[in-house]
Amino acid sequence: MKIYNLKSEAAAWEEVQRLRRDFNPELLKDIRINSGEEAVERATEVIQRLLTDLKDYNLNFPQISPGHGSGHLTRDFVNAGILFRNLETDPRDAFVGFVGGSLHDIGCVIISRYEESTRAVRHAEAGALFTRHLLENQKDLSDLERTAIAYSIAAHTHYRGESEVKCDDGETRIVKPYMELDKNGKPVWPVWFTRWVDRLDCNGPAYLGRHYLTLAEEHKDFDGLTHFDVRFAHHMTPLLRHFKDQVDDKGVRNQTMSEHMKMFADSQTNESPYGKHDYGFMVQLRDGSKDMLNRIVYATQVPTIFSPEREREIREVWRKFLYGNVEPSMLGSVTSGTLDGMFGELEDKTRHAWCSAFLTTIYEYSRWAEERLKYIERQDSRSYSFKPITDDVREVIKPRYWE
Ligand SMILES: [Fe+2]
Ligand SMILES: [Fe+2]
Repeated sequence: MKIYNLKSEAAAWEEVQRLRRDFNPELLKDIRINSGEEAVERATEVIQRLLTDLKDYNLNFPQISPGHGSGHLTRDFVNAGILFRNLETDPRDAFVGFVGGSLHDIGCVIISRYEESTRAVRHAEAGALFTRHLLENQKDLSDLERTAIAYSIAAHTHYRGESEVKCDDGETRIVKPYMELDKNGKPVWPVWFTRWVDRLDCNGPAYLGRHYLTLAEEHKDFDGLTHFDVRFAHHMTPLLRHFKDQVDDKGVRNQTMSEHMKMFADSQTNESPYGKHDYGFMVQLRDGSKDMLNRIVYATQVPTIFSPEREREIREVWRKFLYGNVEPSMLGSVTSGTLDGMFGELEDKTRHAWCSAFLTTIYEYSRWAEERLKYIERQDSRSYSFKPITDDVREVIKPRYWE
């Protein structure tokens, strides 16, 4: 059994700086891909081989924090497959974006998403270094292809300015934004494409479930400006305030889950720093998912009263959705049970508001899954495999809550 660890943060930090120096958008033109079909085919092979190699490592995949585990990874691979089969672009950029997008959160197996406020080498950087290490095994890749893939993974966390981080090892490090435009001011597409794939699952009908699964433990979340504490009972209050009013009486940020969902939905536009380069098929996918997320958020604002039996039914279906589709793992199952216990302690009004959103999510997910399955079935069956996570991606996508 092989072991991969980052050694010290200082050593890993040095390696990340090397990766930043090694990457140059000029190199992308030397990637050996000649057509869109070849990009998709080769990216699929690279991803499948890398995942197969993971079995030799002592990694605790089922223990990845829920919301960033096997469900997100599978949907990323599926969304990337659909996006890059339909997006008009340079096939070399599509190749790197497909691999980077599908594997962007692989670093969550090494570093917990919610311990990041005291680290400068975070899940994105850890994932980049680990991927570069694993790709050494794939002899048909060139160094520049490995570097471009690793860089795109590191850059998926969209830093919009410099920040000073007091790290757990006592050092203070300055985290700088990644390069996202080339010297002519043009987008470095593989960096953007990797982020696009991530955004497709931070939106749409799976996102509420992903975020909800992170609430079983108190943790810090990020609202684009600051890290703030998330506490379950307050977070579940179905308030939908203006961004500037999302603070307590001491001025400390206290965003609710409705507000968090709305913030994500509202950022899915070409007017936002995240969506400013979206075009073509990405806009189509993004807008469809954004509408779904908005309908889910607004369901919390419509007062609905459910009978105790109906509430029980909805909560049961919601729990099956969480561990059957959103996070299909033992941890997903345990966490969804813990959360249901916590949910039962909330006020009637809050429970009913969220039951109404859970129900809307189920309807939206059913439509989303049907559409995704149609796309998948048009593909070559070799692309269904996502071992060791699943033998067939359709098993993760197809609705599991009626079983
Ligand atoms: Fe991430
Ligand atoms: Fe992600």
